[in-house]
Amino acid sequence: MPLLDVQDLQTHFRIRQGIVRAVDGVSFSLEEGESLGLVGESGCGKTTAALSLLRLLPTNGRIAAGRILYQGQDVLQLSPEELLRFRWKEISIIFQGAMNALNPVRRVGSQIVEAIRLHASISQPEARRRATALLEKVELEGRRIDDYPHEFSGGQRQRVMIAMALACQPRIVIGDEPTTALDVMVQAQIFELVERLRRELGMAMILITHDLSVLGDTCDRAAIMYAGQIVEIGPIARIFFHPCHPYTRMLLRSFPRLAGTREMVGSIPGTPPNMIEVPTGCRFHPRCPDALALCQEQEPTWREQGLRHTVACHLARTETSDA
Ligand SMILES: Nc1ncnc2c1ncn2[C@@H]1O[C@H](COP(=O)(O)OP(=O)(O)OP(=O)(O)O)[C@@H](O)[C@H]1O
Ligand SMILES: [Mg+2]
Repeated sequence: MPLLDVQDLQTHFRIRQGIVRAVDGVSFSLEEGESLGLVGESGCGKTTAALSLLRLLPTNGRIAAGRILYQGQDVLQLSPEELLRFRWKEISIIFQGAMNALNPVRRVGSQIVEAIRLHASISQPEARRRATALLEKVELEGRRIDDYPHEFSGGQRQRVMIAMALACQPRIVIGDEPTTALDVMVQAQIFELVERLRRELGMAMILITHDLSVLGDTCDRAAIMYAGQIVEIGPIARIFFHPCHPYTRMLLRSFPRLAGTREMVGSIPGTPPNMIEVPTGCRFHPRCPDALALCQEQEPTWREQGLRHTVACHLARTETSDA
């Protein structure tokens, strides 16, 4: 049994103009200790998918269909009390722009202690000892436990957030572009840190990122999202060197080169669809250079492209022999 098994997840937002199908049939699984990258253009539903796993949606959002099985248990069936225990203890999340999520008027230590004590019945001094140890784990000095958030730099605040996400030793940590607001050097340090801690603690991870080198360095597998769906998923080397979906190929080309300058090599022509009225057939067909008439009419089904490598594209070969 996989640690996490997401089946046909659909998450909708209600807005004045209609229903936004932000996540529209996402399925994937995650094994113990594994790290999965989630990539795709802005607005394709990455954050919504991540928030859905923890049932942390804004009030106009709801999970309309699908199953989220964590160790075989359906997260969608958890009671509010069970959900509180589940979040942070089983799956935790480092939010997009998380460093601004700390309460500015409270010392960071008391915020970490609170997170710990919410889930473990231990004494205040014991929780404080753990919080200090956590700060040291993320390479901050333990004595800074009594500092306020504004006394830390952006990169240090992000380390505090990582410490909080690890406070309950979750089995899965989700990082939603955990470093986008930071400069490149600090980003690299933070990723090294996250990767080291993840391996040390044996956690699985779902990492949402726009950075190809981070994806390659950090993830075992990658899932490519387009317009609310995963269009290709597979081992990272397969995705990098044998991408099967035209969108994956264009997306990889649009990323800055790994080692060279930071210029964008090319952007993907056209714009992602409006998620209230998605195109018929394959959602990518209006932008796809290889589209056939079929692509406009029929939604592609999943095709195996090798071991754990699948793609939803009419143009992909159906044989499974080239793993
Ligand atoms: N609270 C909301 N109400 C209405 N629509 C929303 C809400 N949150 C997100 N959406 C819409 O859902 C879709 C998916 O958004 P989401 O934030 O999940 O994308 P994303 O892939 O995380 O993008 P980015 O890379 O920019 O962070 C978008 O069309 C977005 O406009
Ligand atoms: Mg997002």
